[in-house]
Amino acid sequence: MNKRLSDQMACKRKNPWTIQLTSRSQTERLGGLIGCRLQKGEIIALMGELGTGKTTLVRGLAVGAGLPSHVVSSPTFTCIQEYVGPIALAHVDLYRLDDPRDLDDTGLADYLNGRFVVILEWADRLPADWLPNDYLSVHLTHTGRYRRRARVQAFGTRSRDLLHTIQSAFG
Ligand SMILES: Nc1ncnc2c1ncn2[C@@H]1O[C@H](COP(=O)(O)OP(=O)(O)O)[C@@H](O)[C@H]1O
Ligand SMILES: [Mg+2]
Repeated sequence: MNKRLSDQMACKRKNPWTIQLTSRSQTERLGGLIGCRLQKGEIIALMGELGTGKTTLVRGLAVGAGLPSHVVSSPTFTCIQEYVGPIALAHVDLYRLDDPRDLDDTGLADYLNGRFVVILEWADRLPADWLPNDYLSVHLTHTGRYRRRARVQAFGTRSRDLLHTIQSAFG
């Protein structure tokens, strides 16, 4: 294999993988590339300050998974929303989680048992022992009015495979 080609392949296999998203639709596209590959049991952990695009990414992800985009809203009061379509998806927002002991009352444990794809906004508010062994994280940072940086990282073999296919598809 020539050096240029092997460099290109290495560049497509970064973990963590950092990309620039220059518009809302690019963030939705990244979500779509993840969403169309999701299988039940997969966990996506989203992090980033308010307005960095976590819910926007979830919207793209839901569309990629075959759900209508309008079903996605910020689960402000409920903490967990279920979307059932081609796959069962649980959209969790931990923004209002003040005390990790309250997690027992949310029912989150039932969603993490492998029957759902679980997408967690504000996943960094989750105590470490709640995170599964294998998950994909996306950390979004505000870098301009319409620009966001996404740092996508795989923890575990299953999410690493997912990350590699997304990288190849993103181009
Ligand atoms: N590149 C981008 N990616 C995502 N959202 C963007 C981008 N540029 C501008 N925006 C805007 O930023 C806001 C992101 O909101 P939202 O997805 O609800 O963020 P969060 O869930 O992180 O609080 C939306 O109003 C969206 O239109
Ligand atoms: Mg949100």
